[in-house]
Amino acid sequence: MTMKKIRVLGIESSCDETSVSIVEKVGDKTKVLSNIVKSQLDIHKDYGGVVPELAARAHSDVIHKLIQMALDKAKITFRGVHAIASTAGPGLLGGLLVGVVAGKTLASSLKKPFIAVNHLEGHALSIKLEQKIEFPYLLLLVSGGHTEFTIIKKFNSYKRIGTTIDDALGEAFDKTARLLKMGYPGGPEIEKYAKEGDENKYKLPLPLINEKNCHFSFAGLKSAVANIVAKNKCTEKFKKDMSASFQKTINQILSIKTQRAIEHFKSIDKSKTTKIVVAGGVAANKSLRGALTKLESTHRCEFLFPSIKYCTDNGAMIALAGIERFERNIFNKLDFKPRPRWPLDKNALFMKGKRIVGE
Ligand code: KG4
Ligand code: ZN
Repeated sequence: MTMKKIRVLGIESSCDETSVSIVEKVGDKTKVLSNIVKSQLDIHKDYGGVVPELAARAHSDVIHKLIQMALDKAKITFRGVHAIASTAGPGLLGGLLVGVVAGKTLASSLKKPFIAVNHLEGHALSIKLEQKIEFPYLLLLVSGGHTEFTIIKKFNSYKRIGTTIDDALGEAFDKTARLLKMGYPGGPEIEKYAKEGDENKYKLPLPLINEKNCHFSFAGLKSAVANIVAKNKCTEKFKKDMSASFQKTINQILSIKTQRAIEHFKSIDKSKTTKIVVAGGVAANKSLRGALTKLESTHRCEFLFPSIKYCTDNGAMIALAGIERFERNIFNKLDFKPRPRWPLDKNALFMKGKRIVGE
């Protein structure tokens, strides 16, 4: 008996990485045949953040080349692809349009199905590129644009139990780094400086920590850093101590909120060890990984970290989500509109600027 083979070409362009990948599934084995990623770091670094207009232009400059590179690397032609999947949200509209239009154009000219993928579903399922995991599990997504706990109950059934009411965690790292006159992206810079600093030197607030929920707030933390920066000379020593203190505070916040999320998860599924997938660019932070992994000794839980290349934005996770949808015959029409705001959990409240005490 020949096993069914599905190959999907995935396109990612929701933020500042353009990526095209081809993922293959044969039987129950998943293989990434190619995953080409072009970062726009050099374009945005002088601005300390992503400039939407520049991002959209840069995606459209390279997308066609990346599609060809992904096919070449996978050693296949378009004929060997069964469907085209594009990130259709959430993200920056200009970038989404580039990826969605490219995906629809390919699908229509090749007469193959088009699949509109939610970027967050890509992150949620990305662990499956490398290992098998059973539903349900918990996702902690920490990137430049997102910070959330979501219970991945099963495919297409997601419950968000916590999010940020202001800045994303990656943004907090980037803004703090900017205050400390470091380069962009700020996360890796802070991590580097923190290694040689005194983490107890500056006391920073732990926003929302006493609220018995899994929500985050980082804007106040940034203001506290700004106040201390204003009173000090920005010497190398200061940068090291501030970075270490900031990182320690982040680890405390994430550790406490993750314990709450585990309790919440166990109230739904107490049968086994809670598996927590940590994805997004901030998951690269080793000290945060260490702080979270410590919880394994006190809570019945296990942390799973996808490889860094699948933690940050990539086409492979979009192609994989495309395969999951292809298997279930979930396709989209060519008039599908990109959705800059598109929560995974349809019932999740819009939380920016909100405080829901006790939720
Ligand atoms: O997932 P990602 O590559 O892009 C999106 O935001 O979608 O995440 C980028 C974010 C940036 O804010 C960056 O500062 C942060 O991840 N980051 C880190 C580290 N590496 C990247 N934050 C803390 N420590 C790191 N080592
Ligand atoms: Zn992302």
